[in-house]
Amino acid sequence: SAQNRLLIKGGRVVNDDMMQDADVYIEDGIIKQVGTNLHTPGGTKVIEAKGHLVMPGGIDTHTHMQLPFMGTAAIDDFYSGTRAALAGGTTMIMDFALPQRGESLIEAYHRWRTWADPKVCCDYALHVGVTWWSDKVAQEMEELAQELGVNSFKMFMAYKDTWQLGDSDLLESFKKCKEIGALAQVHAENGDAIKENSKKLMSLGITGPEGHELSRPEEVEAEATNRACVLANQVGCPLYVVHVMSKSAADVVSSQRKKGHIVFGEPIAASLGTDGTHYWHKCWRHAAAHVMGPPLRPDSSTPKYLMDLLANGDLQTTGTDNCTFTAAQKALGKDDFTKIPNGVNGVEDRMSVIWEKGVVAGKMDPCRFVAVTSTNAAKIFNIYPKKGRIAAGSDADIVVWNPHATRVISAKTHNQAVDFNIFEGMEVHGIAEYVVCHGRVVVEEGEIRAISGMGKFVSTPTHSPHVYGRVEERDRANAPQKVDRAPYDGPVAKLNGQIPVHEGGITPVHQETFYTRGPTRCGGLNLHDSSFHVSGAQANDKSPKRPSVKVNNPPGGRTSGSFW
Ligand code: URP
Ligand code: ZN
Ligand code: ZN
Repeated sequence: SAQNRLLIKGGRVVNDDMMQDADVYIEDGIIKQVGTNLHTPGGTKVIEAKGHLVMPGGIDTHTHMQLPFMGTAAIDDFYSGTRAALAGGTTMIMDFALPQRGESLIEAYHRWRTWADPKVCCDYALHVGVTWWSDKVAQEMEELAQELGVNSFKMFMAYKDTWQLGDSDLLESFKKCKEIGALAQVHAENGDAIKENSKKLMSLGITGPEGHELSRPEEVEAEATNRACVLANQVGCPLYVVHVMSKSAADVVSSQRKKGHIVFGEPIAASLGTDGTHYWHKCWRHAAAHVMGPPLRPDSSTPKYLMDLLANGDLQTTGTDNCTFTAAQKALGKDDFTKIPNGVNGVEDRMSVIWEKGVVAGKMDPCRFVAVTSTNAAKIFNIYPKKGRIAAGSDADIVVWNPHATRVISAKTHNQAVDFNIFEGMEVHGIAEYVVCHGRVVVEEGEIRAISGMGKFVSTPTHSPHVYGRVEERDRANAPQKVDRAPYDGPVAKLNGQIPVHEGGITPVHQETFYTRGPTRCGGLNLHDSSFHVSGAQANDKSPKRPSVKVNNPPGGRTSGSFW
């Protein structure tokens, strides 16, 4: 019907690899034609886009709508969060189903589906957290990947005592991801160091939000980022580092990529748009509102640095880690920074912040903007070109962007449920004047017409060619090579004997293994040998205990005491 037809006329279509002046014709939620002088059926709704950019709707790779976390739950749920996403030009989010330690991953997945399906106003996909390890977890990862549309799993190196995995479990999970063609994601912070630092800071009386950053400085993030990259590379598993927050963590990602390792880095709207100086703000509420993990960095040149790396290809995608808590929720940690619920806003403002700090700042052109706000995510998570492209056959998820209009970001006017905005007062160019989701106009000149449940779950298939395309070849090219040589046929020294490990951990030492020199001519111990042994054993461990010897006439005469 005419209702299902839409023509976006006279705009400049921007994809990640080209721009063209063209009209876009849509029917039943799918782009049917892109070109000039299109003939469309009568009654088609028309959006006049002259002077505007027509770009793929944004894909926010990292959100936590209504996440139960740190004793409370994120205030933006799948309705308010996705509605706000649309208002800002984002037409798809990727959220995380996070099981409790010991809980079934599949149950967590279904719980998230039950929360999201009736509420989402835009499309969504799910990453699933691997928050503990067992054979069952491994088997559930396989089922999620093969049957339930999940191709990415997040492992936490922080949140000790809840979600944190140790190195051996990380290795196991990376191996499993590779086996099933999924993408391993990491929250890269050293949770052990954070716990230790937090205790110390609290004992020094540093209880406010500045303690949050002090307890998890850059090197704590960079160390974990490097460790994750090394471990993933050891088992040949592609790795995606979520929420890259610091220069040094970004440098790790970029240097690993230079070595040819398959690593992707995701800065977020917060790390690109603001910094960690706010943790030292005199107003507790203001400072606490910026608490998230890993923290924003006090080095105020960080956002520009991350934007440069994003612009030049060292970093690839952008999320928000949108996980919002009101001032009252943040106040759960008013006397102890470790109890402030971690998370900030971003889902509504990501597109504008990146446009302002990336395009308006002259760091990236509109094609690169499209790459980092949607196309690269669609490619990495294997939903391209259904998503992330304006072309015939792609989903009609489109933002008609007015690059000249400006707005001032504020919690007073934003659409999110949270009562604070970390970008408060920032003037941004670039407004999502029209947003089309599944071919429906859901934002029209600032008015939002989102309907809960209108969004769909998007399955993400395994073995993305943009991730796994060179894994097999790389494994083959880098496979260890055996040296073919004639077997050694010379003499072989005799081992002194087996050294089995004793039950109690102490290795029993035999006289013949303990000493390398034979006994003296009279059969005594050769004292040129050391009686020290690494196992802690003594040379005479096996000798029967000798009865004590009573000396009746000791040298120097007898005493009356029991010295001898
Ligand atoms: O502060 C954050 N990042 N909250 C959400 C949980 C996570 O680690 O992504
Ligand atoms: Zn995280
Ligand atoms: Zn997160």
